[in-house]
Amino acid sequence: MDIHSRSQPDRVRVRHLELDLDVRFDRRVLEGSATLHFDRITGEELLLDTRDLEIYSVDNAAGFELGAADRVLGAPLRIRLLPGATWVRIHYATTPHASGLQWLHPPQTAGKRQPFLYTQSQAIHARSWIPLQDTPGVRITFEAAIRVPDGLRAVMGAALSGGRFCMVHPIPSYLISLAAGDLAFRDLGPRSGVYAEPALLDAAAYEFADTEAMITAVERMYGPYRWGRYDLLVLPPSFPFGGMENPCLTFTTPTILAGDKSLVSLVAHELAHSWSGNLVTNAAWSDFWLNEGFTVYVERRVLEALYGPARAQMEAVLGRRELDREMAGLPEADRILHLDLTGRDPDDGCTVAPYEKGALFLRTLEQAVGRERFDAFLRAYFDHFAFRSITTADFLRYLRRELPTDVPVDEWIFRPGIPPGAAEPHSDAFARIEAGWPADTAAWSTQEWLHFLRSQDPPDIPRLDREFHFTDSGNSEILHQWLLMAVQADYAPAYPKVEEFLASVGRRKFLKPIYTELMKTPDGQARARRIYAGARSTYHPIAQATLDAIVGA
Ligand code: BES
Ligand code: ZN
Repeated sequence: MDIHSRSQPDRVRVRHLELDLDVRFDRRVLEGSATLHFDRITGEELLLDTRDLEIYSVDNAAGFELGAADRVLGAPLRIRLLPGATWVRIHYATTPHASGLQWLHPPQTAGKRQPFLYTQSQAIHARSWIPLQDTPGVRITFEAAIRVPDGLRAVMGAALSGGRFCMVHPIPSYLISLAAGDLAFRDLGPRSGVYAEPALLDAAAYEFADTEAMITAVERMYGPYRWGRYDLLVLPPSFPFGGMENPCLTFTTPTILAGDKSLVSLVAHELAHSWSGNLVTNAAWSDFWLNEGFTVYVERRVLEALYGPARAQMEAVLGRRELDREMAGLPEADRILHLDLTGRDPDDGCTVAPYEKGALFLRTLEQAVGRERFDAFLRAYFDHFAFRSITTADFLRYLRRELPTDVPVDEWIFRPGIPPGAAEPHSDAFARIEAGWPADTAAWSTQEWLHFLRSQDPPDIPRLDREFHFTDSGNSEILHQWLLMAVQADYAPAYPKVEEFLASVGRRKFLKPIYTELMKTPDGQARARRIYAGARSTYHPIAQATLDAIVGA
């Protein structure tokens, strides 16, 4: 049961989708048809999720009716089926403000000459560009014909064969993806490569050079990569997330192109979803921690395999610190792994808890039984549930059977806070940083700089800037951390940079804390409102929704 879908897949269940779409940059719509093939279990009606779609007609059906729109869920589409029919074809178009689409003008791209479009379907935005059963509990295969204007290239998270995109593995709707723009491609390895605008291709290929080694590292631990190719797509800076694990084609923000591979934990993360999330999927959004907690755990194991334990330990300590900092500000109900999202937008459940509390729980299980047994358990888990969508209860049943321990599992999953006996990540390098003002920082990694900044209490902002020139940092994570602290301290020399940063980056994780901090003082409010008035239209609908609530539309 998924409360975020009206589709009742236990009555009629969609199995396969054929998409046929024109990408109309002139009108900012996708237009064409979706043919749905389904199994009939009971009843004469197919129920679909939609949001802001214009439905023109439905072929091979007795009739259809678009219900009233709900703010969170959109409008249900009821299709009356003909006796014995196992498919329908829906002719439709999207609308320009579809929550799952971002249409970019040429100036918002690196090349400045061509427009760009990309989708972001997770959590429940696929319904704003395809009428379907928009629940992670339903898995479908699909094929797609996508037409774009001359000079642009369309890509999808799927295999391309004979001009059509084809996904032969059953996937949940939130993993269906499409992008179109002036895209070039470069191979990274035998089954991996990167798409980016031509101006970014060299930088992207350099940054992601370890991708093939990462794939091999996960395979050694948790079994074969089952999706054929693994490519990356670098999006324009307005992409609201760090990354999105669309199968075969991870979408990433360009803000991880640091020039020194220091932010590739994001690639490890999205790649890890090829096992945790895409292969074994949360059945509903209250089980989101099954996707993200497992993925952060695997991500750190990849970092350890490629870059050594010291690096993985640093990331684990950064994660633990973030968990403590952010969980303190969450309502009790959101400090629980298995979330109650009744009446809420599932995007609201995307807090630090499913990620870092989830990963800490798995780290604690690993510590209880030893790495060898835990890895064998995880590998068997991925095999056992491969290409299935599971609930927290399914996981618990499997865990109790296959890996009984003394870890207070129910407390981890159903109660707020961190239970006693939790693993305690430790980093020697970070302990040295905590010991006092540094003497030699020449060999510091990005992670050390981040920990250094976050450990200043209270920070001497002018001295930090004088000695280390953070306002000029070219690393987006360091710059973001610094600008946030500068705003907290009302450090005037940083404001031009704050403004530039907020106007040029659309990554929600960066925007939200800085705007929130600005809104705490009258001067800051005026500044935030002025910057937001200029920048809002360049942000993704998802980021706009978050920031409207903070800054005011
Ligand atoms: N699947 C998530 C992104 C997501 C979550 C989109 C919920 C919509 C709703 C992705 O794998 C992710 O976790 N991205 C993180 C980066 C990661 C390294 C923690 C992000 O975008 O910040
Ligand atoms: Zn993730």
